[in-house]
Amino acid sequence: MSLNWTASRSAGLAGSFQVPGDKSISHRAVMFGALAEGTTRIHGFLEGEDTRATARIFSQLGVRIDIPDTQSRVIHGVGLHGLRASTEVLDCGNAGTGMRLLSGLLCAQAFDSVLTGDASLSQRPMARVIGKLEAMGARITARDGNYAPLHIHGGQQLKPVVIDTGVASAQVKSALLFAAMYADGESVITEPRPTRDYTEAMLKSFGWPVTYGPGRVQIRGGGRLQAGDIRIPGDISSAAFFITAALLIPGSDITLENIGINPRRTGILQALRLMGGRIEVINAREQGGEPVADLRVRHSDLKAIDLPESLVPDMIDECPIFFVAAALAEGTTRARGLAELRVKESDRIASMVAGLRAMGIAVEDTPESVTITGGILHGAAIDSHDDHRIAMSFAVAAQCASGQTLIRDCDNVATSFPGFVDLARSAGMILE
Ligand code: S3P
Repeated sequence: MSLNWTASRSAGLAGSFQVPGDKSISHRAVMFGALAEGTTRIHGFLEGEDTRATARIFSQLGVRIDIPDTQSRVIHGVGLHGLRASTEVLDCGNAGTGMRLLSGLLCAQAFDSVLTGDASLSQRPMARVIGKLEAMGARITARDGNYAPLHIHGGQQLKPVVIDTGVASAQVKSALLFAAMYADGESVITEPRPTRDYTEAMLKSFGWPVTYGPGRVQIRGGGRLQAGDIRIPGDISSAAFFITAALLIPGSDITLENIGINPRRTGILQALRLMGGRIEVINAREQGGEPVADLRVRHSDLKAIDLPESLVPDMIDECPIFFVAAALAEGTTRARGLAELRVKESDRIASMVAGLRAMGIAVEDTPESVTITGGILHGAAIDSHDDHRIAMSFAVAAQCASGQTLIRDCDNVATSFPGFVDLARSAGMILE
């Protein structure tokens, strides 16, 4: 049975709270912990379906993972060559990050593997990673050459490469980095626009020599990973729903604690500030090599902007909630360079355009752009297209709409933000 939400106008958000751990870092922490020598303790692990699927896969590959408490994992690393073949299919669920990063890691193993995913993940393009990994000598077969299930043929000696990812994708870059760890020589990976650098940062913190800066990584194969402790900050992608809601709902004043503010993730803060949003970074500090801070957000009158295209990769997962901000800002907002949104958990341009139109907003789109004229939102029936971020974006939109909004098929919110409804309600959103 699918889960539907009803939501209506909020009188304001208040309070100081945390959001669950960063999804990108949680996936990587399990992967590096598994390949390391020694025991890795993870604190602040995201208890989402996506990241739990990744942990389950490593258990299938012979890694012991203990769960001392919720949001903690103890990974007993098996070393770079210690994974064991699984006789079962490895199910990544809804997680593009899981599937793409695992492709890079598994193509370097001595054994074969099969990766599958849910209906949405099985429609997402994998050729972007397969083609690049094949350049290193990997052998991967996919349905129609592009889709899961992926049959990964192990036992290949990978060659180092000098390669451009071709698309601004941290997943493609990270898949190549995992493969490059097993190649016999030095690889150089560049990207058309810099993307999140968590794989690079984690390689370094596990003691693997790597040289990197925005848009370029240099790595030599054949090293060792040394286990350690990892503290995962709150996910700015999850925080973004509360940040935007607080800006939009009159009377709001909230503080989000311990949020990761890696510059490759804070495009949404810059975009909302350009619109006039009052977002204060308090108590900025470093935690396990990552910048974190508390964010105080107060209601603000937002104005339309032309979104600088250079910000898009740094807010790629926050575009849906940014469109909600634009729908309530004064004037017409234009955003371009959005083609990647078409191949996320849903076609996020199509999902948002349909939902915002249903709520009474004038929206136009092209294959890679969106134009939104701010207006008055009316409650409507919205299809989330089984996409967690679409469901949560419309939950926020409904807080500023007249009447009631019905949001269909919200089950997948559990992939990235378990407890969203409870937290939203305790902050002052009207949602059930
Ligand atoms: C992610 C990279 C991004 C992002 C995804 C997480 C990662 O995907 O949308 O939610 O953890 O590397 P792309 O690499 O497809 O841009």
